[in-house]
Amino acid sequence: MRLDIISIFPDYLAPLELSLVGRARARQLIDVRVHDLRDYAHDRHRTVDDVPYGGGPGMVMRPEPWGEALDSILPDHQAPLVIIPTPSGRPFTQHLAQQWSLRPGMVFACGRYEGIDARVAQEYAGRAEVLPVSLGDYVLAGGEVAALAMIEAVVRLLPGVLGNDESVQDDSFAPGAMESLLEGPVYTRPPEWRGHAVPDVLLSGDHGRIATWRRDQAIERTRVMRPEL
Ligand code: ADE
Repeated sequence: MRLDIISIFPDYLAPLELSLVGRARARQLIDVRVHDLRDYAHDRHRTVDDVPYGGGPGMVMRPEPWGEALDSILPDHQAPLVIIPTPSGRPFTQHLAQQWSLRPGMVFACGRYEGIDARVAQEYAGRAEVLPVSLGDYVLAGGEVAALAMIEAVVRLLPGVLGNDESVQDDSFAPGAMESLLEGPVYTRPPEWRGHAVPDVLLSGDHGRIATWRRDQAIERTRVMRPEL
C-alpha cells in the first residue's frame, strides 16, 4: 500500500517511523512518503495561506501549492483516494478503515488554519475520490494527528502487519459476532495484584464459559459507555 501525506509540518508525522507502522514500512508492507507542502510554494516566503474571501477570522490555505503537490503525487496512484482530514467531514469509522485497507493507496491532504480553499476538492473530484473525513466532534489544530490515527487504523488491518490474525477480528467495532459491542476488560499475570483478583472464570480453562463471560462483559461495557450502540 502506498501512503502519501502532505503537510506543512512533515515532522509532525515522525511517529510513522515507530511501532506498528514503522515496522510495516521496514518490512516493505507499506510505502509511506511525507511531503512538505511548502516545497510546492514558490514565492520568497513559501506562502501557503491567505485571508478568507468574505472576511472572518483566521487564514485559508491557498489552492496553488495544493494543486502542484497533488499533480505531482496523484500519477503514482491507481484509483486515487484523497482524504482531507477536517472536522466538517464524514465521521471516521472502523468500517471506513476496513474499506481503505483494501485499496492500493491513499493521499492525506493535511490542512491547517481554517482549512483548504474549497476549489482544491472540486478540481480533483474528477481525477480522484476526494473524501473529507473527521476524526470526531472536536477541533484539532490541523489534519496531521487525524491522519496519523487513520493511517494506524488502516495499516494494522493489512495482512501480515499484526502477528496474530485473530486480534483484528476481536476488535471493538469489528464486523462479526461482537458487532457494535465494545471490548470488555482484559487481564494478564499476576492472578492477584494489590488485592485485585483476576475473575475466576478466566482461570477456569472452560472456553465456553469464558466466551459467554466475555460477551456479557462486552454488552455491559457497551451499555455503560455507549448506550446508543
Ligand atoms: N482537523 C481539525 N480537526 C479535525 C478533526 N476533528 N478531524 C479531522 N481533521 C481535523
